[in-house]
Amino acid sequence: MAEDAATRVSAGIERAATISARAQYLVALTGAGMSVESGIPPFRGPGGLWTKYGEPPMNGYQRFLADPAQAWRERLSPQGPMRELWETLHAAQPNPGHHALARLESAGILRCLITQNVDNLHRLAGSQAIAEIHGNYMLVRCIECSRRFAGDEIPLEALPPRCPHCQGILKNDSVFFGEPIPTDVLGRCFDAAEQCDCMIVAGTSATVYPAAQFPFDVRQRGGDVIEINPYATELTPIASVSVHGPAAVVLPELAMRIIQLRGM
Ligand code: OAD
Repeated sequence: MAEDAATRVSAGIERAATISARAQYLVALTGAGMSVESGIPPFRGPGGLWTKYGEPPMNGYQRFLADPAQAWRERLSPQGPMRELWETLHAAQPNPGHHALARLESAGILRCLITQNVDNLHRLAGSQAIAEIHGNYMLVRCIECSRRFAGDEIPLEALPPRCPHCQGILKNDSVFFGEPIPTDVLGRCFDAAEQCDCMIVAGTSATVYPAAQFPFDVRQRGGDVIEINPYATELTPIASVSVHGPAAVVLPELAMRIIQLRGM
């Protein structure tokens, strides 16, 4: 980073820490940029998955419902289009940004972490108060009763696999295009966003709804939005502070400073 850019980032972190440290109900919202330093590509922009493969069809969920067995066969196929992503996800480890958010939660400062990421890295880092609004790729979910199960514990001899509880069809917990966000997780997100007076938004283009709406709602109610992203986004104009740096670098410094300012 050039010296003046580094100075701007440090000044941004200090302002962001001052604002976040006085929050009563701090919430974080994260997106794909959060895991770039863990080796997982984002969706949009240079090197993005959708940039490389094109955006998946908007009717992904309808296609799943039309032939769940075929959808599972495609998913499990060694040549499947998502295979490369799955292998990347399996190999990935949390980066210092994930650990910083887990530390803020264990210090009792961060109340909820809403993530759009399905990569499980926040959980691996130790975060517990998580709402995975687009699901978790390690889990499967029953489309009838919404119960979730560890994906590697579900027998896949007969496709589609069935829910051990109600015999409904199981699909990966990752939310497909055209699929409603499961109501349990959506409710947790709305609760957190409603109580939130300061939202740290890291690594998202803020283009996919409803997640993208939360920071705008917080701002409209007079709360603060702290953005962490190397580039400007739709959110930048309304953010209280935008820190233009990578999440894996900015979040550890921000978390440390918030904890210091809170006298912990
Ligand atoms: P995007 O790929 O749309 O945006 C990633 C954001 O991360 C961009 O704004 C980048 O500038 C930023 N970024 C890149 N590198 C970064 C870094 N090192 N640190 C911090 N930020 C960085 O990803 P999302 O906003 O998460 O949904 O996309 C939202 C949803 O769109 C995804 O959850 C997915 C996708 O369709 C589903 O699959 C349902």
